[in-house]
Amino acid sequence: MTDPAANDVSRSARPLAVIVLAAGKGTRMNSARHKVLHPIAGRPMIDHLLASVAALSPARTVVVVGDVREQLEQHLAGRAEFAVQDPQLGTGHAVAQAEGALAGFVGDVLVLYGDVPFVAAATMRAMLARLHAADEPEVVVLGFEPADPLGYGRIVTDRDGGIARMVEHKDASPAERAVRLCNSGLLAAPADVLFMLLRGIGNDNAQGEYYLPDVVNLAIERGGACAVIVTDDADEVAGINSRGELAVAEARWQQARRARAMAEGATLIAPETVYFSWDTQLGRDVTVEPGVVFGPGVSIADEVTIHAFSHLEGARLERGTAVGPYARLRPGSVMGEGARIGNFVEMKNATLGAGAKANHLTYLGDATVGAGANIGAGTITCNFDGYFKHRTEIGPRAFIGSNSALIAPVRIGADAIVAAGSAVSRDVGDGELRLVRAEQLVKPGWADRFHDAMKKKKAAEKG
Ligand code: UD1
Ligand code: CA
Repeated sequence: MTDPAANDVSRSARPLAVIVLAAGKGTRMNSARHKVLHPIAGRPMIDHLLASVAALSPARTVVVVGDVREQLEQHLAGRAEFAVQDPQLGTGHAVAQAEGALAGFVGDVLVLYGDVPFVAAATMRAMLARLHAADEPEVVVLGFEPADPLGYGRIVTDRDGGIARMVEHKDASPAERAVRLCNSGLLAAPADVLFMLLRGIGNDNAQGEYYLPDVVNLAIERGGACAVIVTDDADEVAGINSRGELAVAEARWQQARRARAMAEGATLIAPETVYFSWDTQLGRDVTVEPGVVFGPGVSIADEVTIHAFSHLEGARLERGTAVGPYARLRPGSVMGEGARIGNFVEMKNATLGAGAKANHLTYLGDATVGAGANIGAGTITCNFDGYFKHRTEIGPRAFIGSNSALIAPVRIGADAIVAAGSAVSRDVGDGELRLVRAEQLVKPGWADRFHDAMKKKKAAEKG
């Protein structure tokens, strides 16, 4: 077998094409959604995989699609090319479908599975480095040793640690089933070698499928040598086939992220109760109390405290801010340095200036609050009239009395005071007091006379 680049000293500089297998929808997920679009830490599993792939800067990325392929074609539009596999006749057949898309491509191919999303870029690099080693194997397979090898393809090695044979569990003899080294499914090979071998494999096996690992067997038959590298982290190559396995992958991801947060200088009082998003950014000396959930798009600066049972999504918190307990920050929430949000406060598309406070029972939606302003308990920005959203602008150092309704669009000037219980529908000028409530009626002694009269009446009734 000839590899045109075999004698090229710059073999390692050859371009890379990645083929991601995702033709099977994943029946065991029992979902209308394609398996690889199910999220882990709020991000579709295929995107986790493609993020690691991006670190290798491949020249080409081809995703093999089949079942509900329109979902993948839409989700990955502009980020990948597609090859269609219909019908699905096995993993070898799946990879062969990418040959047309890669016509004319000269370089290496790395085959990945869309439902094995957490293969590290370092592992992919190690596979390619092995392919480029002086002995120039035809194919490099990624192996692993799971606690329970049942169901996996086995890698039977020879005395030198090279591969003697690849065999699927269903086709394996009892002696082969005793082998603990399993096939992760992932492999690397020069493109021309891979597609040439794929043309030679058959489907005369227990499942009547074209097995991708048979390219290894064929290469060996033809006198070539194939190599295995072994990952010592079986979790890295764990496939996700069911909701149960999805939950296990989520738990593992969260655990690793919590450990990273703490290593990077955050205090998590009860780490196992805090849930991060794939893109959460945390500064140093951040304290996160129990039961906090980060949705996507949250960035937290240094010295921030997030009190218990708060939910944050699409929020930016600057240095020294504090949130909660029981706060909800929805997309578009921005808290300037030292600002405070207390219990049962909700923010959405709203900015708090430096040092501004909304400590109790408040809704700030489509609002801008100036630096140092104080928003009293129970303040509501009435931002929606049933048809349109409107903004509320509150000036610096303004004081909004408790239980006020600010009916947007409305502006409250700098240093203005809104009296408690006001429903404000017209702009308030700088330094102005606005009081919107009925005049108070004052009747000294009225209650005493009322009680006397009523008690007498009651006594007469019993009498
Ligand atoms: C495969 C390997 C097995 C390995 C195991 C690791 C083969 C024959 N067997 O087995 O050695 O231990 O992975 O998990 O390769 N796919 C397609 N088209 C197809 C068939 C599969 O795109 O026609 C995709 C699936 O969507 C999936 C991946 O290939 O992403 C693996 O398919 P799966 O059926 O899970 O392979 P296994 O039989 O588990
Ligand atoms: Ca599988």
